[in-house]
Amino acid sequence: MNRNLPIGIFDSGVGGLTVYRALHERLPNERFVYLGDTARVPYGTKSLATVERYAVENSRFLEARGIKLLVVACNTASALAVPAIRKAVQVPVIGVIEPGSRAAVEVAGTANIGVIATEATVNSGAYAKEIAALGASGEVLERACPLFVPLAEEGWADSDVARMVARDYLNDFRTTSVAALVLGCTHYPILRNVISETIGRETTLIDSGAATAADVELVLEKLCLRHDEPLGLYQERRLCDDLDHFYVTDAAERFAKVAERFLGSAPSILEAVEIWGHDELRTH
Ligand code: DGL
Repeated sequence: MNRNLPIGIFDSGVGGLTVYRALHERLPNERFVYLGDTARVPYGTKSLATVERYAVENSRFLEARGIKLLVVACNTASALAVPAIRKAVQVPVIGVIEPGSRAAVEVAGTANIGVIATEATVNSGAYAKEIAALGASGEVLERACPLFVPLAEEGWADSDVARMVARDYLNDFRTTSVAALVLGCTHYPILRNVISETIGRETTLIDSGAATAADVELVLEKLCLRHDEPLGLYQERRLCDDLDHFYVTDAAERFAKVAERFLGSAPSILEAVEIWGHDELRTH
């Protein structure tokens, strides 16, 4: 495996850019190739079989482009499809569930842990299983918060509507308090302030993306795949610069607009691709 290859990241759409940002901050000497499956988003309301199929197709697409490691930024795909992805590709695969769970257990110890995520992630029980496997003895309370996704994408993260929705969704955590709350969906870090205000500052918010970036660094080091030398000789590295390559399966313009909202800049290189069957793809 060549350490000069980029790291692959995929998500159901634009939300995975929060994970890209965390990776970029932690590993500024790495290049990234990102696939947002904007034609088939959302994954959070779909069945196991469908999410597995999409996730495998996305992973094969990125592997075919030449990557040294694959990050499954999408929590729903991480919860449902990591075993299928590992069977389908040769590169190391890192999902967000395990790092996010570990970070939560480190903070909460034996106290209760909350998890907010998509419907499919909550129904899979993936976070609760992982947290239990890590030996945590407190209760794990999970809650789906689907409206947070459009609120983040529409730029309404800091609005009265977001506050009202958060109050309703996070009500359960007022009666049973949690020491840590896992932001178990790519979009939720965008609503961090409103979530923290609503649940109370004494609850630590866990960003699964940031926890995953720390894990990716460790795995790269262990496999001697880390790229340490600065990448741009003539330019300062910045988010979405032309060292990173972005693909979407639909609506590139909208992706660029929301990327600007989430990251403060739109991708320099953004390409629309069609993926169908398992291996076939067409670029245009
Ligand atoms: N990326 C998804 C996740 O983190 C949220 C959006 C969707 O439902 O596809 O679970």
